Amino acid sequence: MRFKTALLSALFSVLCFSVPLAHGAEMGKLKYGDFKKHTMCKGCHREIHQEWSQSLMSQSFTHEWDQVEYFKLALPHSKKLEKVAGVKAGCIGCHSPLAFLSGDTPPKEAKAGTRANEGVSCVVCHHTTGTTEAEPFNFSFTIAPGKTINGPRKDAKSPAHGTKYSEFLRSPQFCATCHDEQSPYGAWVKATYREWKAGPYAKEGTRCQDCHMYRAEGKSASMGKKRKDIAHHVFHGSHFANKLAGAVDLALYAKKKKADLGAKFTFRAELFNGKVGHMIPSGSAEERMLWLEVTAIDAEGNRFNIPVTPKGFPGEEYTIADPSVLAYQAMGEIMEIAGFKGLKRDGNVSKGSRIFRKPFFDPKGRMTVCQWYTAENTKIDYRIGPRETKIERYSWKVPMDVTPGPVTIEAKLYYSQIPSSVGEFFKLPKDEYAPILVNKASMTIMVK
Ligand code: HEC
Ligand code: HEC
Ligand code: HEC
Ligand code: HEC
Ligand code: HEC
Repeated sequence: MRFKTALLSALFSVLCFSVPLAHGAEMGKLKYGDFKKHTMCKGCHREIHQEWSQSLMSQSFTHEWDQVEYFKLALPHSKKLEKVAGVKAGCIGCHSPLAFLSGDTPPKEAKAGTRANEGVSCVVCHHTTGTTEAEPFNFSFTIAPGKTINGPRKDAKSPAHGTKYSEFLRSPQFCATCHDEQSPYGAWVKATYREWKAGPYAKEGTRCQDCHMYRAEGKSASMGKKRKDIAHHVFHGSHFANKLAGAVDLALYAKKKKADLGAKFTFRAELFNGKVGHMIPSGSAEERMLWLEVTAIDAEGNRFNIPVTPKGFPGEEYTIADPSVLAYQAMGEIMEIAGFKGLKRDGNVSKGSRIFRKPFFDPKGRMTVCQWYTAENTKIDYRIGPRETKIERYSWKVPMDVTPGPVTIEAKLYYSQIPSSVGEFFKLPKDEYAPILVNKASMTIMVK
């Protein structure tokens, strides 16, 4: 067994990283050849393989934005700034664990077709034995490749490999080894596990696996037993519009459904996160936005944008869309673009929309999408927690040019992975940053 002790890995991390990294996984102590390819599992575990192939786990290195962020931003930055030097290997620790374990850092770009492209593959998870941390983060998994595959069953028998029951694989701490992350500046830049832990689902015993690997009757392998509760490897998250659809309830209420031209009409929107086991947005919070766009449409189809009424909390300006504000200046510095003033902080989100987000700030105090270059992200957090309700209020002075008669007030809740300004700047495929509709609600009022 190649299982290494926590002590050795801790020592290793001190020697190789200028960052407060926890380390189970050790760089360069293994080789690609120690791990079987996912194609070896495909023949027997057909459905699981299909599901995994369509999930982001199989694309964690090759996905366009991952390639761009690593090769155009993080990697060059790691060579320029000592403080972030560790991310050259660090990003790979979670995004392409086999490359990291084999010491292939930086790996070649995806188009070279190396084994780095396998991403978070079957053997990464199924040879994991545990973690060096009580509350894991920063790829602190321990791993032991070999003939034995760890799994959730005590009675599994396979003609192709040994099997071993693993309590760890079934725990949320297992997911936390990659889903929580601390930056070289000590900021928690991913905290999905910690958010879950602090919320109601952890107390009720609902695990990550219960919502992201649903169970159904069937067989996990062609020669396997028929079982009632096979774990499906879908890992649906925000990249699956169907997982996002309806994830937050949305409704509009008003005291009366009548308004006068030139007078104020007040109403409210209620948003309830009844389905997401952690914050929404979670994960890569530095670049995720959830926003509520409210529009009035009169009988002639004229559209009027209705801005949210500010609540007055510190930092609220970051949560109300303003197309005139620029941010993300660090990108220009890293890429050495002369005269770079920044990109639109909120992309194309319409002015006055409430944005549910957690802004990250670089050591110079500017908002950033570079999570590794994040020094502060605790002061403003206007996301919607698990089972939390947020109420947004609106006070609309009905413009004189609204056509009297029925007016529809429409609220649309959108989600995006990356601000459109950043997506356009890097010419990413549109589907990596286009707005995804989470929910909508409307009400009709009479205007006279
Ligand atoms: C020749 C067919 C075959 C191949 C190839 C194969 N497996 Fe299996 N595997 C099985 C069978 C059969 C079972 C038992 C299923 C059951 O009992 O429900 C199994 C069980 C498992 C389990 C569950 C173990 C447990 O204790 O719960 C895991 C995980 C697993 N395989 C992963 C893999 C991975 C990863 C690969 C590729 C490296 C692979 N298998 C290749 C047939 C195969
Ligand atoms: C991100 C980690 C991860 C990856 C990648 C992954 N698995 Fe799993 N797998 C799990 C977890 C976690 C479970 C147990 C879920 C539970 O019981 O809650 C599991 C369960 C299984 C089982 C047993 C299912 C059952 O319910 O009996 C098989 C078989 C399996 N995996 C095979 C594979 C194969 C084949 C691949 C690659 C195509 C793969 N896994 C990729 C994490 C992973
Ligand atoms: C070895 C590291 C690793 C482990 C362990 C791991 N993940 Fe992930 N996971 C990733 C990476 C990397 C991504 C991001 C892929 C991308 O977009 O580049 C990801 C993405 C996801 C997504 C988002 C998919 C989407 O549509 O946006 C979900 C959901 C997810 N993982 C759930 C889990 C769960 C549940 C577990 C535990 C059973 C788990 N992960 C364990 C590395 C890991
Ligand atoms: C009660 C169900 C539930 C539980 C428990 C749960 N999730 Fe989720 N998760 C969701 C839903 C629904 C979404 C889709 C909404 C979204 O993307 O925020 C999601 C989204 C995600 C995403 C994508 C976030 C993004 O913005 O790209 C990741 C990653 C993720 N979950 C990981 C985890 C991990 C890790 C755990 C355990 C620590 C976990 N989830 C527990 C329901 C759950
Ligand atoms: C501790 C593990 C870990 C480390 C270290 C890590 N990531 Fe990630 N990364 C993840 C996980 C997990 C997700 C998925 C979160 C989500 O779905 O919101 C992710 C998401 C991303 C995404 C968003 C993908 C998308 O489609 O929106 C990019 C880009 C990315 N990471 C790049 C990097 C870069 C560059 C580095 C190094 C500076 C890095 N990551 C370091 C685990 C990690």
